[in-house]
Amino acid sequence: MNTSLFRKKDMASLQAEVEAVHTHGVLKKVLRVRDLTFMGVAAVIGAGVFSTIGTAAYNGGPGVIFLFIITAVTCGFTALCYAEFASRVPVAGSAYTYSYVTFGELIAWIIGWALILEYSIGNIVVAISWSAYFNNLLEAVHIHLPSWLTIGWQTAKANYHELLAAGKDVSHTAYAQAPVIAGFHIVMNLPAFLIVGFVTLLAYIGISESKKSANLMVGLKLVVLAFIAVVGFWVIFSDDKMTNWSPFLPNGVTGVLKGVSSVFFAYIGFDAISTTAEECANPKRDLPRGMIYSLLICTVIYVVTTLVITGLVSYSDFMGVADPLAYVFNAINMHKVGFIISVSAVIASTSVLLVFQIGQPRIWMSMSRDGLLPKRFGKINKKRLTPGFATIVTGLLVGIPSLFIDDLLMTDLTSIGTLFAFVLVCGGVLLLPKIEKESGFQLPYINGRWIIPALVGLFLLLFRQRLATDLLHVEAENLEEILFLLFSAIAIVVAILSFVKHFSLIPILGVLCCLYLMIEIPINSWIVFFGWMGLGLLVYLLYGRKNSALNQ
Ligand code: ALA
Repeated sequence: MNTSLFRKKDMASLQAEVEAVHTHGVLKKVLRVRDLTFMGVAAVIGAGVFSTIGTAAYNGGPGVIFLFIITAVTCGFTALCYAEFASRVPVAGSAYTYSYVTFGELIAWIIGWALILEYSIGNIVVAISWSAYFNNLLEAVHIHLPSWLTIGWQTAKANYHELLAAGKDVSHTAYAQAPVIAGFHIVMNLPAFLIVGFVTLLAYIGISESKKSANLMVGLKLVVLAFIAVVGFWVIFSDDKMTNWSPFLPNGVTGVLKGVSSVFFAYIGFDAISTTAEECANPKRDLPRGMIYSLLICTVIYVVTTLVITGLVSYSDFMGVADPLAYVFNAINMHKVGFIISVSAVIASTSVLLVFQIGQPRIWMSMSRDGLLPKRFGKINKKRLTPGFATIVTGLLVGIPSLFIDDLLMTDLTSIGTLFAFVLVCGGVLLLPKIEKESGFQLPYINGRWIIPALVGLFLLLFRQRLATDLLHVEAENLEEILFLLFSAIAIVVAILSFVKHFSLIPILGVLCCLYLMIEIPINSWIVFFGWMGLGLLVYLLYGRKNSALNQ
């Protein structure tokens, strides 16, 4: 028996699993390239463009479009690597399964654990944003829920104490108005919990039903976003609002980079469709296409939407605006358009929730088949043909925290966890054995021998001042800069290795770009991230290691 922490599933046994799953598997194979592209768009466009884009635009101004383009390119490198894996290993499990064959069991487990941040924690953010837009809609039709039922306990308490400290009136706050039982203020985000419950039910009922709902929701949000673009540009050009685009980079590159976490969050999701590999009619051909098409569509939408919102009002108006799209149209007195946007934000976020609520149980299903999670997580409900138990656990894991928790830290955690998974997927592609494929997607090989050292050299040249300052003042309290130094060191090592080993350009660019985006995320979130990963390691050592299928 192989007891190494890095024992791997070999390609041959995985191919046998692929055959078995596709020949005898009970999941329905109904997804085609159009469904997958729609599912990608369904997963990507949601809370990011309807909520977090506001803060990014406030910090970076119209120039935040550059960050959207850079992030899209980074995601593009990763999508190509995902596509290579999805084409070779078309089973559910996404990055988790991919790392099992390349890096071995321990890293695979770590990835599976990090993906909980992307799927479940990410969905907490989306559910909270959904609730904010839903509440706007209710208010617009004069239905007023008590404020203590529409906000998380943590956020309400923080707002209350902030106002109190500033000596302001707190009597109108949700925290002050909430009923108090045994000294505890009963504050909860009930709509967020209910929507998670509804979406979990849909995911439980069946993949065909989920597919139809996702397609319908995507159709609606694309129509609304196209409408916003047309009306927005028409107003910008006819009312001579182009002056809002100047200055284009009001806070320079630093301002733009403040948006990394929000902008990256907006792209999360294109990879989620790889979890439906066992429900695809032709996964080798359709999965790669679906991922890349959805990424292209979303990039165009994000760049256009950023130009519209920063053209209609000044970027400086976005401070603390949680619903920027509705806000800009209300600001120019087009309240009906604002209302339509709120409706579509609710629909868009619902579709994101749905895809992630479908993805998480399928990753657990793969982990359970490998013995790293209890068997129940892999059990398929005979009537519904979905992983029933895992779907319900996902519902609870997302629904309960969304009642109480604050979403800011959750956004950062989602972004770090996802970027971490991306780094390993891109790195993993380098370890795949070379084969001639007759069908499916082939990642183009471009020799990185000269290009990677040249790009790393350029990076070091551009950031030479920051590097010099950091090297002279390495202090424990300056953890952000230590991360930057660490990244620079990794980049130099990768450049040397690429020169010696002729590494393929695309995966290396994927690794370096994702690592760079990671170090731009605040250090507090890194600390929580390490805590979460430590907990995962403990679970693996206490359960997964002993029960792994590789022990047999
Ligand atoms: N990209 C997804 C969203 O913006 C997570 O909601």
